[in-house]
Amino acid sequence: MYTGKARAYTNIALIKYWGKKDEHLILPMNNSLSLTLDAFYTETTIEFKESFTEDSFFLDGIKQDQKQTAKITAFLALVRQQYQVSLFAKVDSRNFVPTAAGLASSASGLAALAGACSAALNLELTDKELSRLARRGSGSACRSIFGGFAEWQKGNSDQTSFAEAIVSDNWEQDLAMLFVLVDDGVKDVSSRDGMKRTVETSSFYAGWLSSIDADLKTAKQAIAEKDFKALGEVTEANALRMHGTTLAANPPFTYWSPESLTVMQLVRQARQNGLPCYFTMDAGPNVKILVEKKNLAALKQFLAHHFSSEQLISANAGPGITLLPEEGSEKS
Ligand code: ADP
Ligand code: DP6
Repeated sequence: MYTGKARAYTNIALIKYWGKKDEHLILPMNNSLSLTLDAFYTETTIEFKESFTEDSFFLDGIKQDQKQTAKITAFLALVRQQYQVSLFAKVDSRNFVPTAAGLASSASGLAALAGACSAALNLELTDKELSRLARRGSGSACRSIFGGFAEWQKGNSDQTSFAEAIVSDNWEQDLAMLFVLVDDGVKDVSSRDGMKRTVETSSFYAGWLSSIDADLKTAKQAIAEKDFKALGEVTEANALRMHGTTLAANPPFTYWSPESLTVMQLVRQARQNGLPCYFTMDAGPNVKILVEKKNLAALKQFLAHHFSSEQLISANAGPGITLLPEEGSEKS
């Protein structure tokens, strides 16, 4: 029997990953850049055991159906093949983040699963190898291996597509992200399906891709120069462009709800009032606001007129993945 445990934090992309050029290997169309956060995370324990006759997946204590388990089994099949293991496994995962609500549970969830496998099987993977493995579970998960800012280098093969930490002189410690939860239900269109439909059908997709290099350059320069305004402006513009592509897909769709638009408008208003802050959104209606830590309390106070305290969750920059080998883990 082999057991292992890992904790991984979610990350939110400031420059988004939106579209794959290889769906099997999960190779993205473009590089992306993210900030790992401390408020939301996943803890996953895995047990590989001779007596198991199939893989099983428990999320928050509830045994998952065949569809949910199939994704885990596909990932474990890859691990078994890559590392010559023949045992089935029980995965026991706890999300300290709403699942499938556009709050990046897939990033923390699949990074934690990759980490738990590595811990259980004593794979001793480098961060780069662990990032590549997590990527095969969910693209954005490859960035959750690292704390702070990370960039996913798109690469052009399994070996060359992985995330790396961005040197930032710890500037991320001056930043915060405020999550405005307008809806924590499961979304209609998953990121996986949404990006596939967009790549295949959206006439705006080429425009999105052609904007990425300039956005990345601006974002990395802003991080190097600790220029909050420049980072915020490019973050917001990039998110708007990503969401623009969905409107031109066939059939068209949007992750925005009326409440999302309200939050965006309030962010603009806050800026007009002299409070620098910038929004971003992922594959769901919740809005994340990038703000300097020193202005977080003022932003919360401003938004408290419109949202309850339960709807406003603040996060600081978070750490990279932690592997926690379980007591008694051994080959048998
Ligand atoms: P989100 O915005 O939460 O990332 P996605 O639709 O992109 O939403 O991904 C949600 C999917 O990620 C879930 O349906 C599930 O397949 C997977 N997932 C979420 N949490 C975990 C976890 N703890 N362990 C394994 N897979 C998970
Ligand atoms: C909008 O990583 O969830 O959050 O690779 O298909 O599992 P798969 O998709 P996923 O997509 C994340 C999309 C996004 C942007 C981002 O995180 O970069």
